[in-house]
Amino acid sequence: MNQVIENIKNRRSVRFFSNEPISDDIVKEILEAGNYAPTGANVQPWRFVVIKSEDVRKKLALNAKPVYKNFIDHADEGFKAMRKSIDEVLEDSIYYAAPVLVFVIGKNLVSYALDCPMVCENMMLAARSMNIGSCWLGFGQMGLNDEILGLLEFQENETIFGPIAFGYPKEGFPETPAKKPVTVKWI
Ligand SMILES: Cc1cc2nc3c(=O)[nH]c(=O)nc-3n(C[C@H](O)[C@H](O)[C@H](O)COP(=O)(O)O)c2cc1C
Repeated sequence: MNQVIENIKNRRSVRFFSNEPISDDIVKEILEAGNYAPTGANVQPWRFVVIKSEDVRKKLALNAKPVYKNFIDHADEGFKAMRKSIDEVLEDSIYYAAPVLVFVIGKNLVSYALDCPMVCENMMLAARSMNIGSCWLGFGQMGLNDEILGLLEFQENETIFGPIAFGYPKEGFPETPAKKPVTVKWI
């Protein structure tokens, strides 16, 4: 299998990170890979906020927790059980105490809603190629209060994608979850 395809197939969402920091040079390399994503009319309507501060991450987790709990309380039983298995073993089951969080902030221009997820995937694949785990944190958008939005310098004409957690996996990369077979019509 060629390395790109192998990398795509071996990328997994990682939720258990070791304490080993990621060097700034490697973070920059990951951001650079994101920056090479395809983009409508080459507008590149994104910017990044990197959070390495443990204090800020803890603040994010504190704010997100009640919103997350409320979401889980109203979720179906299968999802509840799946999240319970994570909540029981991790103190921070939203940001996974990841050493690096990257918010991709898209300016609402042209095809930003299509462009920015590609930025995220490029970064997650680049990370995997360097044995760094990642996870898109939809829950990580919950409870972003004014103080946090201020830190992100978030503007009204912007949208947040991710955040994406990055870190060296504590227990290696998880097994590939079952993937549905390819559905395709050939013409
Ligand atoms: C838009 C989006 C939001 C996600 N939000 C979360 C999240 O909040 N927490 C989490 O643990 N995983 C989250 N994930 C990761 C998915 O659960 C994961 O991609 C899926 O289970 C497939 O596993 P894999 O990434 O290992 O292939 C999210 C993924 C996407 C694409």
